[in-house]
Amino acid sequence: EMSPEELEKIVFTVKKEFGSRLFLPGHHYQKDEVIQFADARGDSLKLAQLSASQHEAEAIVFCGVHFMAETADILTRNDQHVYLPDMRAGCSMADMANMTQTEKAWEKLMATFDETILPLTYVNSTAAIKAFVGKHGGATVTSSNAADMLQWAFSQKERILFLPDQHLGRNTAYDLGIPLDHMAVWDPIMEKLLYDGPLENVKVILWKGHCSVHENFTVGNVEQVRKEHPTMQIIVHPECSREVVELSDLSGSTNAIIQAIKQAPPGSKWAIGTEMNLVNRIIQEHPDQHIISLNPRMCPCLTMNRIDLPHLAWSLESLAEGDPQNLIRVEDSIAIDAKKALDRMLSRA
Ligand code: 13P
Ligand code: SF4
Repeated sequence: EMSPEELEKIVFTVKKEFGSRLFLPGHHYQKDEVIQFADARGDSLKLAQLSASQHEAEAIVFCGVHFMAETADILTRNDQHVYLPDMRAGCSMADMANMTQTEKAWEKLMATFDETILPLTYVNSTAAIKAFVGKHGGATVTSSNAADMLQWAFSQKERILFLPDQHLGRNTAYDLGIPLDHMAVWDPIMEKLLYDGPLENVKVILWKGHCSVHENFTVGNVEQVRKEHPTMQIIVHPECSREVVELSDLSGSTNAIIQAIKQAPPGSKWAIGTEMNLVNRIIQEHPDQHIISLNPRMCPCLTMNRIDLPHLAWSLESLAEGDPQNLIRVEDSIAIDAKKALDRMLSRA
């Protein structure tokens, strides 16, 4: 067992040795013990863009979850290598849409709606799903550009299939003025469309997936905050349910949440509905404001947290020893189509 000091020393030493040949992106949900070493912090969109621009980096050690490392691999050159410090750092939402389910859904929906559908996928999805979407003319979206991308999608086709997060899809479509009764839900387990109205009214088909972290922020939490802190502002991530977003004051990507609080005057009061590590960091960085988690229990993303200091040090050590572990390599046949979906987004970002 090594002490935190010894582990930190390994990280420092390898980072120094590699210089700009090594790039270490860190998502805002990463632990402090990891993010302190990140060369760049960001939300999913920023990290995707940055990975694409790291021309000098031979190795990218991604401090985030599996789909983010896959995205970095797809966007970088073939001789650049992406590593994930712990292969178990997945995303339960990305796992809610697999290829078999998606192909079945597509076949049924295209028949039902006479081929008038364009697929969009949240970047929180596997490379295979991104490739499926890219192959069918669609694009990826992130929580910071979902509205722009949905608007673009409607300029292409009459209807959108939105994978895999029903909440981001519903919240974004609602903001664009699409009524809730024009949104259907595709249930991939039951293999059926959940919708009561006339089919011609359907504008958006929401995949029945969700984030297991953000589902912990409830209407009950909002009511509690309103009762106990009447002057507090509530800001949540759009992976929260429609009801929670509706009752909140603001919603936005991790970056939008950080910016809103940065721009608020001293003495401001906030309840934040997003992942625990980010909420704790915002609290520490703004001692002049009164900030709490919307859910008093605090909500960690367990898979994000699998990237910890021991795994980071182990990963960098393996790199320094010339035997790098945990390579993330999306096979070419998938990467080519997935890149089409990502490029359609990045050219508009
Ligand atoms: P953003 O950082 O893009 O808002 O994404 C949040 C998230 O859940 C990443 O897994
Ligand atoms: Fe996936 Fe939710 Fe964790 Fe983000 S916070 S990585 S969407 S499980």
